[in-house]
Amino acid sequence: MASLTIRKLDDGIKSYLRLRSAKNGRSVEEEVRVILREYCEGSPAPASSLPPPSPAPTESPAVERTGPSVGQPSVTLIIGGGIAAFKALELIRRLKERHIDVRCVLTRAAQQFVTPLSASALSHERVYTDLFDPGSEFDAGHIRLARECDLIVVAPATADLMAKMAHGHADDLASAILLAANRPILLAPAMNPLMWNNAATRRNVMQLRRDGIHMIGPNAGEMAESNEAGVGRMSEAAEIAAAAVDILRPPRPRPLAGKRVLITAGPTHEAIDPVRYIANRSSGKQGFAIAAAAQAAGADVTLVSGPVELRDPPGVTVIRVESARDMLHRVQAALPADIAIFAAAVADWRVANEGEQKLKKTPAGMPPLQLVENPDILATISKLEDKRPPLVIGFAAETEHLIDNAKAKIARKGCDWIVANDVSPSTGVMGGDRNTVHLLTRNGADIEVDSWPVMTKEQVAAELVAKIAKAVENDS
Ligand SMILES: Cc1cc2nc3c(=O)[nH]c(=O)nc-3n(C[C@H](O)[C@H](O)[C@H](O)COP(=O)(O)O)c2cc1C
Repeated sequence: MASLTIRKLDDGIKSYLRLRSAKNGRSVEEEVRVILREYCEGSPAPASSLPPPSPAPTESPAVERTGPSVGQPSVTLIIGGGIAAFKALELIRRLKERHIDVRCVLTRAAQQFVTPLSASALSHERVYTDLFDPGSEFDAGHIRLARECDLIVVAPATADLMAKMAHGHADDLASAILLAANRPILLAPAMNPLMWNNAATRRNVMQLRRDGIHMIGPNAGEMAESNEAGVGRMSEAAEIAAAAVDILRPPRPRPLAGKRVLITAGPTHEAIDPVRYIANRSSGKQGFAIAAAAQAAGADVTLVSGPVELRDPPGVTVIRVESARDMLHRVQAALPADIAIFAAAVADWRVANEGEQKLKKTPAGMPPLQLVENPDILATISKLEDKRPPLVIGFAAETEHLIDNAKAKIARKGCDWIVANDVSPSTGVMGGDRNTVHLLTRNGADIEVDSWPVMTKEQVAAELVAKIAKAVENDS
């Protein structure tokens, strides 16, 4: 059957359709359907109301909406009857900012909190409220609302709507759409903490999760309608919009799915006495970025980090340590792994005569500090007979003879790859956000050097993970 693109119609016809649909409170698409139906039933629109042949004046893009835009994702937003319904209006704006078309459905109870007019003005679309609306139901409009979108968002998802969903009710427009849906559904529950904790709601939430329904929130906080606090506040509009975008995004490739990746990051602190330590300027940013990139590539990531001021990357198991010896123990305990990446700037030495009490100034002068070598984590793991990860990658932070030193290191330590970077103070790499690296890889007896341009640490991480994914794929 032929399809009709309203945007491609003659301007005069579009102008006529816009006027007619606005007058009848329908979307332009629906108006066309009504006209066709009238035509088939033999009661076409009077000739006097037919479109003028001349082109219509240009209108603002906001008025020119003609149903979902081509190539733009669309959301059917069901607004439930809770006090948080006002936040759904902000959600419309947040979704539209992200170039997502929004069509709103308001439950009868929702209309006690916000008006269809507000939702319509913000979404630039007709708003739907009634299951038995002859204007949209002559062709089963509730099915179209359930299917002609990429995602259904329910915000606020009331206790009542969730109960209906969990039990398959379809006695109003919102519940009928939810039952007819073949698109992902995201709920943003919002209710009094007692309602949220009620055994019936708990059962319904569990059932909905089992049914594959996505949920965001509720958050903990104060309730708008009472002096109560607890879990039940609807997530903020920006959080819901971000969750919607996540669901709408095409699934990312996960080339490291099923692989265990072990990463070290940050400096180590080697105690001089209970209050002083030897450290270095490593920020941990590069190792954390690699952990996040490996996790995004589907790997099961363990990150053993020295003391840094960074937040745990989501989905990564983070183990915080202080000294080189702690780091080695935790790395050994985290084996086996398929890939190990040693990005930490581990102190080469520690103080042999660590003071049990704070060292004091004495007339005799400075207390002598004796240094002993720390365990070499990269060499220890590279030379393991048992449990050596199949791919071991070290980092070489150098201030001179970068490539020569890195080549020597790859041979001395027994690792497979080295990421070499110049950490001279003038580069700003230590603690900074950018990095210029060279990837050294063993190729039989040769070592190949691949020099990358200056990049952010996230870009270096993404590039390194892509190389690892390729190597893993070639090996399998
Ligand atoms: C002032 C007021 C605030 C309400 N807030 C909520 C709420 O935040 N969450 C909720 O689940 N129900 C809330 N309710 C109860 C719902 O409005 C009621 O259960 C209604 O039937 C829900 O209808 P719906 O699920 O079709 O939107 C509130 C009721 C009133 C009167």
